[in-house]
Amino acid sequence: MKRIIIAFCALLLATGLCAQKFPDLALTPQMGWNTWNKFAGNINEQLIKETADRMVELGLVDAGYIYLNLDDCWHGERDANGFITENKEKFPLGMKALGDYIHSKGLKFGIYSDAGRQTCACFPGSAGHEYQDALMYAKWGVDYLKYDWCFTDNTNPVGAYTLMRDALYAAGRPVLFSMCEWGTSSPWRWAKDVAHSWRSTGDIGVGFSKDIDNGTWKSLSVLSILDRQDTLRKYAGPGHWNDPDMLEVGNGMSVNEDRAHFTMWCMLAAPLILGNDLTSITKETLAIITNKDMIAVDQDSLGVQGLKLKAENGVEYWFKPLKNGDWAFVILNRNERQVNLKVDWKDFVFTDPLSSRSTEFDKAIYSYVNLWDKGVKGKTKSPMSVIVPGHDVAAYRLSL
Ligand code: GLA
Repeated sequence: MKRIIIAFCALLLATGLCAQKFPDLALTPQMGWNTWNKFAGNINEQLIKETADRMVELGLVDAGYIYLNLDDCWHGERDANGFITENKEKFPLGMKALGDYIHSKGLKFGIYSDAGRQTCACFPGSAGHEYQDALMYAKWGVDYLKYDWCFTDNTNPVGAYTLMRDALYAAGRPVLFSMCEWGTSSPWRWAKDVAHSWRSTGDIGVGFSKDIDNGTWKSLSVLSILDRQDTLRKYAGPGHWNDPDMLEVGNGMSVNEDRAHFTMWCMLAAPLILGNDLTSITKETLAIITNKDMIAVDQDSLGVQGLKLKAENGVEYWFKPLKNGDWAFVILNRNERQVNLKVDWKDFVFTDPLSSRSTEFDKAIYSYVNLWDKGVKGKTKSPMSVIVPGHDVAAYRLSL
């Protein structure tokens, strides 16, 4: 019986009827840039082209940020046959030419839609047009779809997201499928085979420790989002990631806060989607987002989300197992004031139940290097003294 089912599925696959998400995309968390956090609806062709140019010039493409993603507000109307068009005033050359430009820079092209009648900014949604939209995206050369959840009424999320997954697959062009359903239906429980990532919370805002009140809704601070991730780690892995939302680095927090935000997203094995203005980036912001050693923690091929091992007095101690027996270790200071700490490694001997990896501070001596200050190195044979400024981190890579 099992053989018959496998043979049947193989037949369906061969005929393209047995849809799936595109395999082998996002084996490590996706990296790129998206319009929304900084520009919201104020987007146009010139911004996208300038951003593509800057992504190359600033070394972001080399650092791994390969997706350039348009968020909401690129849309025009549907045509007489129901196909979606772009806003011709904002994008006079059209999406195909824009995609060609993005590709010519060695980048990949991302776009945004919504499973409901309308997008969150009230442009046409994909409900009832999923296959048409997927076809159009393939024609435009789209490589990434962020798919939102506004105006979905009583739609079943599993059905809606699976429908779009199948439409993308049928259109035949590999597309990284990024679900944006805000964690409402616990997508980590069901979306592993549907999407490459799923948003785990509502929207992020420019705030480190305080949520931002927008009147009818709140955008979440970095710490609020972080506090909602810890229980989700067992659901993440190569090809399917928890998405704590896009980065706000460079959008108004302090340098310390930006560094802590970026570091914690790397510890979470989160998609790293930048959202700042690249035409006016500061050297501090650039240094944060291009820290290759920190990015390597996020992109580690083991694909295990980090865990919070201990928290006391507003200080958290996070570990993330890495390939080759290494560990990333981060001390997060949630307080506004600096803390002076003594880290006795023996206090952190533990086995991670998810990866079955152990820190062996009682048996072995690790070498460590500070990932934000490469001059600081040491060994775990003796306790480490460290000062962590307020709203900041100390981050290390430990190797045997
Ligand atoms: C929702 C999403 C955001 C952004 C906006 C666009 O709020 O969660 O990330 O895409 O819609 O309208």
